[in-house]
Amino acid sequence: MSELNEIVLKIIADGKGILAADESNGTMTKRLTSVNISSSPENRLLFRETLFSSEKMKECIGGVILYDETINQMSSIGKLIPDLISSSGAIPGIKVDTGAKDLANSSEEKITEGLDGLRDRLKKYYEVGARFTKWRAVFSINDKYPSKLAIHSNAHALARYAALVQEKGMVPIVEPEVLMEGDHSAKDCLNKTSEVIQKCFEELILHKIDLSGIILKPNMILAGSQSKDKISKEEVSEKTLECLKNSVPSEVPGIAFLSGGQSENEATENLNEINKNNNTNFIMTYSYGRALQQSALKFWSKDVRNKKGTQDLFNHRAKMCSLAAQGKWSIVLEDK
Ligand code: 13P
Repeated sequence: MSELNEIVLKIIADGKGILAADESNGTMTKRLTSVNISSSPENRLLFRETLFSSEKMKECIGGVILYDETINQMSSIGKLIPDLISSSGAIPGIKVDTGAKDLANSSEEKITEGLDGLRDRLKKYYEVGARFTKWRAVFSINDKYPSKLAIHSNAHALARYAALVQEKGMVPIVEPEVLMEGDHSAKDCLNKTSEVIQKCFEELILHKIDLSGIILKPNMILAGSQSKDKISKEEVSEKTLECLKNSVPSEVPGIAFLSGGQSENEATENLNEINKNNNTNFIMTYSYGRALQQSALKFWSKDVRNKKGTQDLFNHRAKMCSLAAQGKWSIVLEDK
């Protein structure tokens, strides 16, 4: 087993998943202002540190993705944030892309940037304890998009990113997110997501990536959020498994889904259904942002000093997701 593969398994095996707490300051400001909290570095740290020191971190969270601001912050108990995360047994990770910008010659679409200077930035992140990284490419579905240009250029950037990360001895999370926004059908989502993922692997292979040392972070196959065509959890599971079986090489050890705007319950229920029917060798787990943090954030915003109440909600969500990652979740457990 390679060193990279060992890191992957520490992060996602045995019912563990990833806490995506890497919202950029812009995104975190939207999340905090939506619950009437001002978005200062201190408040961003206080909420995140409350989650990172929760009890269920040990059992349910194998890795935490951080944003550049947080990886350099000191927690209130005098430990650097990456050290606080490591003390729970989880591995600190870092978002290294610098965001999605307008794609020239297809300006309604996005290209994710951040390759310039990446090798030097990775060195600094490694020194403070990061052992895995994230890069998110983003695609919309409509009658024109995603275009071949957006698919190809983002897949190329993801592969160049992954090569630099593995060169430094870290695990790249490869995240090609096909957005849920839109009125497209689940079938369109299946077709477009399959095309995007297949192109990503074509580029990853061209760039000689060790596929046993990556984590794929895709969307589930869902109908668009404005579509009339609602699909059941059984169909989500069937289509998601079909997509991944046909698009992901078998050397890849694991897949950690994003929640992408699903509610906490939907993201848990769908992951559980996928695992109940998982007839692949891939580990299928979570790398959730909103679906792990939403209830905790809402509660915390009402009383930022109530650490225990906030942690209780986070602990519950983490436990539910961990059960779903093993196909052992059921709705009745939500009320316990
Ligand atoms: P959500 O689970 O909120 O979609 O966030 C996951 C993530 O990391 C998106 O890049």
